[in-house]
Amino acid sequence: MSLIAVLLRLGIIGLVSLLVTAAFLYAGGWLSPDRLTPVKVVDRFEQVDGISAGFRRNHAKGLCFAGVFQSNGQGLRVSRASVFDMGEVPVVGRFALAGGQPYLPDTPQMVRSMAVRFMPADGEDWRTGMNDIPVFPVSTPEAFYEQLAVFAPDPATGKPDPARMADFFARHPESAHAIELIKARAVSSGFHNDTFNSLDAFRFVDAEGKSVAVRWSMVPDAPFEAAAAAPGADKNYLFEDLIARIGQQPVQFHLVVTIGQPGDPTNDATVAWPPERERIDVGTLSIHAVEGEDVGACRDVNFDPLVLPAGIEPSDDPLLSARSAVYSRSFWRRAGESKDPSAVTTPAADKGA
Ligand code: HEM
Repeated sequence: MSLIAVLLRLGIIGLVSLLVTAAFLYAGGWLSPDRLTPVKVVDRFEQVDGISAGFRRNHAKGLCFAGVFQSNGQGLRVSRASVFDMGEVPVVGRFALAGGQPYLPDTPQMVRSMAVRFMPADGEDWRTGMNDIPVFPVSTPEAFYEQLAVFAPDPATGKPDPARMADFFARHPESAHAIELIKARAVSSGFHNDTFNSLDAFRFVDAEGKSVAVRWSMVPDAPFEAAAAAPGADKNYLFEDLIARIGQQPVQFHLVVTIGQPGDPTNDATVAWPPERERIDVGTLSIHAVEGEDVGACRDVNFDPLVLPAGIEPSDDPLLSARSAVYSRSFWRRAGESKDPSAVTTPAADKGA
């Protein structure tokens, strides 16, 4: 081989190494220090809430459940996802409280969540995380990152700094409005009679390829009962109540899909859609077992909102890809730690299951 050919080969190898290094530096945010990265978001959760080894960095206090989704076939009108074929699909899920502190006592006003993994036989997994608020407080990942710090308690007063909050709301009027709606919501007495909403919009695609914007909710069978003003005596009273109920009989929810109309925002989870939109009840979720998450099947699940089956697609909501990337980063951190015991345990787990 001539000297020129050798030099050329070495040059190509050097160039490839340079490009790979540059790609790693870019992905790590080193070339653009102002860019928001999943690492920065998870770091901020840890700055605000501390690190609880092995726990989710948000929605840290939770309980696993198992159940069955009984599809009534109505979902096929708008989506070809196999989960909507008439019949039963096993599910694993998780009830939780928002926030990164797994040992905080339950209180009525804390945001509650339900996450579900539908596991149809053909492997077309669908994962969704829903909160019991009517809208999300921010519309972009950048605003989410900022508000984590803005709403963190000031160590001097134990409360968020009012001047920083006023400045945030002046720059984010959509958040000021969303938080008014969230504060005005009717809070139910427990997990079993609460409604959980996807908040983000998605797209359903039917067998002909027609696509519609949707949001969905898990609506309880149990009638609404308002929460008492004060928390229960037990620090885990919300979870203990749910465990006792499911010990008696399955707790049921209906999966209700709201069909968006042209003009309904799909890229802004702070805005509610008009209440008169068509809603389709596509089936019933029956929860028949709960398990403390130290031993439960949900512990090692990442409820990534972009794990979607054929027939369900992401919308243009910028929160979705950020959630997917951040959940993955939170998952890898907690999966690499030995987990501290959960606050919430179930009778089976107490017996050393
Ligand atoms: C529509 C907006 C959102 C909804 C409905 C939502 C809902 C949820 C739910 C239900 C969980 C608990 C999942 C489980 O039980 O494992 C969760 C976890 C989490 N959320 Fe969100 N979330 C939203 C937005 C965000 C955003 C914007 C971020 C940050 C960019 C974020 C960060 C996290 C993290 C880090 C976890 C823990 C993930 C894990 O370790 O598995 N969320 N979210």
